[in-house]
Amino acid sequence: MCSTLELPELIETEAQLDACLSTPTKPLIELMRRLTGDLVVLGIGGKMGVTLGIAAVRAIEVAGISKQVFGVSRFSDIETRTQLEDAGVQTIRCDLLDRQEVAALPSVRNVIYMVGRKFGTQGQEALTWATNVAIPDHVGYHFQDSRIVVFSTGCVYPLVSASAGGCSEEVAPDPLGEYAQSCLGRERMFSYWSEIHGTPICLLRLNYAVDLRYGLLHDIGVRVYRSQPVDLTVSHFNVIWQADANGQALRCLEHCDNPPKILNVTGPETVSVRFVAETFAQLFGTEPRFTGDSDGSRMYLSNAAKAAALFGYPSVSLLKLLKWQAAWIQSGGRSLDKPTHYEVVDGRF
Ligand SMILES: NC(=O)c1ccc[n+]([C@@H]2O[C@H](COP(=O)([O-])OP(=O)(O)OC[C@H]3O[C@@H](n4cnc5c(N)ncnc54)[C@H](OP(=O)(O)O)[C@@H]3O)[C@@H](O)[C@H]2O)c1
Repeated sequence: MCSTLELPELIETEAQLDACLSTPTKPLIELMRRLTGDLVVLGIGGKMGVTLGIAAVRAIEVAGISKQVFGVSRFSDIETRTQLEDAGVQTIRCDLLDRQEVAALPSVRNVIYMVGRKFGTQGQEALTWATNVAIPDHVGYHFQDSRIVVFSTGCVYPLVSASAGGCSEEVAPDPLGEYAQSCLGRERMFSYWSEIHGTPICLLRLNYAVDLRYGLLHDIGVRVYRSQPVDLTVSHFNVIWQADANGQALRCLEHCDNPPKILNVTGPETVSVRFVAETFAQLFGTEPRFTGDSDGSRMYLSNAAKAAALFGYPSVSLLKLLKWQAAWIQSGGRSLDKPTHYEVVDGRF
């Protein structure tokens, strides 16, 4: 079993990885003791939701209190539903595009909203807008008496240079392309219902979670391992260990506000792609190859100083993540085969 005080040297199995991602931290356990009401996670069936839901259940168990955790999704992957039920999450199958199905959901005091659609937007723009804007309309209306933490994205910001220090929450959104525009639409729908009903909300602008089976470090690491060239068109990025991102999201239930609070969630570093590829090469005992070039002026970079001031620095450092990721790739650890496409700078996903 993994605990934040005792992080393992390496993560060798999926069971160990899932345990690390879903072991509650002390602050999360304490939060559960203070938090009034039950919790619902909407869009729990995705890459981040499962471990977030299980961490919440475990925190409640350790806190020794009674609180229900509901998990809502279509459960396109049926095994996910079983995994959540086995862990103590009460699952509800629901297509949130259907407003009647949303209207039938239990009214729960605390909501974590994780629904989103990104890849495949090109050619299916309408579905992306429906998912990222119409669902927030249904949810914002239905859960008007709740507090809602909304997963958003750093892609709502303009592309900036590596020297700018990342966009802070004060930078005005300027989303490029239909995916990012629809994500701003998601924020705007929640803000609209928050204004109408006074619902306290926190909008989390996340940049790249890492869970070893997917993520930006995984994508770069695999290329280095296979001696494929690493693209330097985007030269810098931000990442955060998925458990830290999920932990901060749950703790944001205490920071929901009206008008909505905005918070960037990511790691503290502006990470260099070249540095990451060279570190992987060292760990693999290979030579990195590169392609592409950039003047370093067009990247999605966020400044997470406010989140660090609220919650402290992430529990897993970049170097630890690189070591874990390298060992995971070398030992043939499973990949979700869901590339981040971090190199995209024209807003087309
Ligand atoms: N992962 C990252 O690095 C990252 C970075 C920036 C922002 N974010 C945002 O953070 C959130 C969570 O990330 P993630 O990586 O876990 O996303 P994800 O893997 O895309 O998961 C979102 C889940 O929402 C569910 N969903 C979609 N449409 C639905 C519908 N009509 N009704 C019910 N459920 C629906 C889907 O599960 P079912 O198929 O089971 O319904 C889907 O797997 C997303 O909003 C994402 O945009 C993530």
